[in-house]
Amino acid sequence: MSNGSLALPRVIGHRGAAGHAPENTLASLRRAAELGARWVEFDVALTREGEPVLLHDKTVDRTTSGKGKLAAMSLGELQQLDAGAWHSEAMAGERVPTLMEAIALLQSLGLGANIEIKPTPGREAETGAVVAKRVAAAWPVSLPPPLFSSFKSEALAAARDAAPSIARGYLSSRLGREWQREAAALGCVSIHCNHRNLDRRGAAEARQAGYLLLAYTVNDAARGRQLFEWGVEAVFTDYPDRLLAI
Ligand code: G3P
Ligand code: MG
Repeated sequence: MSNGSLALPRVIGHRGAAGHAPENTLASLRRAAELGARWVEFDVALTREGEPVLLHDKTVDRTTSGKGKLAAMSLGELQQLDAGAWHSEAMAGERVPTLMEAIALLQSLGLGANIEIKPTPGREAETGAVVAKRVAAAWPVSLPPPLFSSFKSEALAAARDAAPSIARGYLSSRLGREWQREAAALGCVSIHCNHRNLDRRGAAEARQAGYLLLAYTVNDAARGRQLFEWGVEAVFTDYPDRLLAI
């Protein structure tokens, strides 16, 4: 396993800069860059017809003006919705971006990215393959190589098969019994874990196994400092400004 080609900064904006702007929107990616982040994480799922878009939940209810499952919605229907007004008046008019729109913005901002694949149940392999193919075809050479991650092994396996050269991260809330076997089988270079379930010993175990260790979602600078001491390579944060101040 090699993680040599992956140059991660210590601070990665979570869903853009979700503490400052509506998550997973272009405004949120922009805000992360303005705050000094060099990388962002965002979630990608498929519309009904299979278009990859940035959305965290299975439904649009929490983060848009609409209601219903993303998997039942066409891109045209999705683009009618407001993805910023729920957050604040100033952000009204934001839309749910397509992956392609997000990549174009990353290019203009010079932002690297961890693309988290969030498949609809039953469409795990399809989501992994579609996202990987699109990223492989469109990733700007001016940006650092991207990193995929997913809670779903089937999605990561499909991403590996569709775009083997794009690095993969094993994403799991905690480091359970299976992580070493699964991460190795998927050819992952990194382990992404909820910082609340991480301790010094677990961090050492992941590092000694040769993986880069990333922790989410870290919004407290003192906690960030401790995680870096334990050998955590990078943290995902809703507040890049707080963590960059360390
Ligand atoms: O990729 C790290 C983190 O985003 C995973 O959890 O639920 O915020 O997507 P979630
Ligand atoms: Mg995520």
